[in-house]
Amino acid sequence: MAEFKEISPEAPAAARLMNWVDNRFPASKLYKEHMSEYYAPKNFNFWYVFGSLALLVLVIQIVTGIFLTMHYKPDAAQAFGSVEYIMRDVPWGWLIRYMHSTGASAFFVVVYLHMFRGLLYGSYRKPRELIWIFGCAIFLALMAEAFMGYLLPWGQMSYWGAQVIVNLFAAIPFIGPDLALLIRGDYVVGDATLNRFFAFHVIAVPLVLLGLVVAHLIALHEVGSNNPDGVEIKKHKDASGKPLDGIPFHPYYTVHDIFAVSVFLMIFSAIIFFAPEAGGYFLEYNNFIPADSLKTPLHIAPVWYFTPYYSMLRAITSEMMYALIACVLAGAVLGVLKARMAGLFKAIIVGAAVVLIAAMLMIDAKFWGVVVMGGAVIILFFLPWLDNSAAKSIRYRPTWHSWLYGIFVVNFLVLGYLGINPPSVINERVSQVGTLFYFGFFLLMPWWSRLGTFRPVPERVTFAAH
Ligand code: HEM
Repeated sequence: MAEFKEISPEAPAAARLMNWVDNRFPASKLYKEHMSEYYAPKNFNFWYVFGSLALLVLVIQIVTGIFLTMHYKPDAAQAFGSVEYIMRDVPWGWLIRYMHSTGASAFFVVVYLHMFRGLLYGSYRKPRELIWIFGCAIFLALMAEAFMGYLLPWGQMSYWGAQVIVNLFAAIPFIGPDLALLIRGDYVVGDATLNRFFAFHVIAVPLVLLGLVVAHLIALHEVGSNNPDGVEIKKHKDASGKPLDGIPFHPYYTVHDIFAVSVFLMIFSAIIFFAPEAGGYFLEYNNFIPADSLKTPLHIAPVWYFTPYYSMLRAITSEMMYALIACVLAGAVLGVLKARMAGLFKAIIVGAAVVLIAAMLMIDAKFWGVVVMGGAVIILFFLPWLDNSAAKSIRYRPTWHSWLYGIFVVNFLVLGYLGINPPSVINERVSQVGTLFYFGFFLLMPWWSRLGTFRPVPERVTFAAH
């Protein structure tokens, strides 16, 4: 236990109160460690605001969610009507609902930009692997949260979207059909499904999300932030132990982040007040029709933030399986010829490739589509060990690395666009090429990230006062 600190009885009341608290709870200590004496690199740029914005959106979603729950009815016969009631009769209900529905899309915009920043500056690399892994787990939880929340308004898209996605689990060999039944709680999406998704959406997943965000920030403050130069500021400290290139988070970055929050809120409000459906991208038109288990909509597509992955799922046709088998074969041959490892490991690679190819020939393409879709997210967890480049930050990598990142972004956006649109022959081909590029980018990273001429990485951060 820390020593009890005495303070003069003449001290101002606020100081005496603070002292009373500090003797019982480390309030000032926490404030110092995480705000006024948390030294962040002085060269942060605008890419560094998205973490705080993600925190803001998380708070918006929780607060508006609590108010929505006060009026929403998780019952298949009443859910759609209760959302209409919120929109029309509950005072300010329309605002709360639009904040929540727009908040869902805003969350993904902010988190995708936040993740891309990590990619640009190599923020996932040693010693920040765990920050990144917690981040990837947050991303998974966020996807689950958004998927289950989307069922709640009980519109046509809610219903059929859930039907399609839950049925995907049925493609898993042996356990699939039982697993799908367990998730639905019924043979089709129904009242039982709505009730359990509600429980997960309002309490289970938010608790996990909050816990992960706390872990993410604890890990961040343990090792300290990276920065656009990708150099460690802790390597150069002054006599008192403060990093020479660090500035206190408060007030410098609180002001920086408040500015970003203001800009964000302007855009966020403009969407809520003038285009809350965002042309059918944030709230799909079909979802203004009550769920009908007898009427399948012509075109079922998830909300925009899932569509890159949805495209990858649709890209895996039985024809595409041959391309995937060829990739596994090429990978195994390369592993055996190139990797510097013992013969036993090489034999294991060959064995695994044979088993995998046999499984690919025997099991339906739909299942492999699910594997590819899941794999597209899971592969992100391994990024810290895939990147072998000599410099963390894109600033000091070969110029063609920037181009490759650019193509990666365009490819992701194209996959997203294709996933929104109905299937067609050209859509299928482009998605297939896009899927191969997406996986190639990550799986071949250990090789390509080392290539090219790197620029010298400076010892200290580069910073021009503005
Ligand atoms: C609810 C979602 C999230 C919240 C609230 C959140 C919050 C934050 C905050 C406040 C920071 C420090 C400020 C900044 O660097 O921007 C941060 C840093 C970081 N986050 Fe997140 N984050 C979230 C999701 C993610 C995801 C999905 C990933 C990656 C998969 C991720 C990876 C990182 C990394 C690598 C850093 C360190 C960046 C650096 O030092 O350069 N975060 N996060």
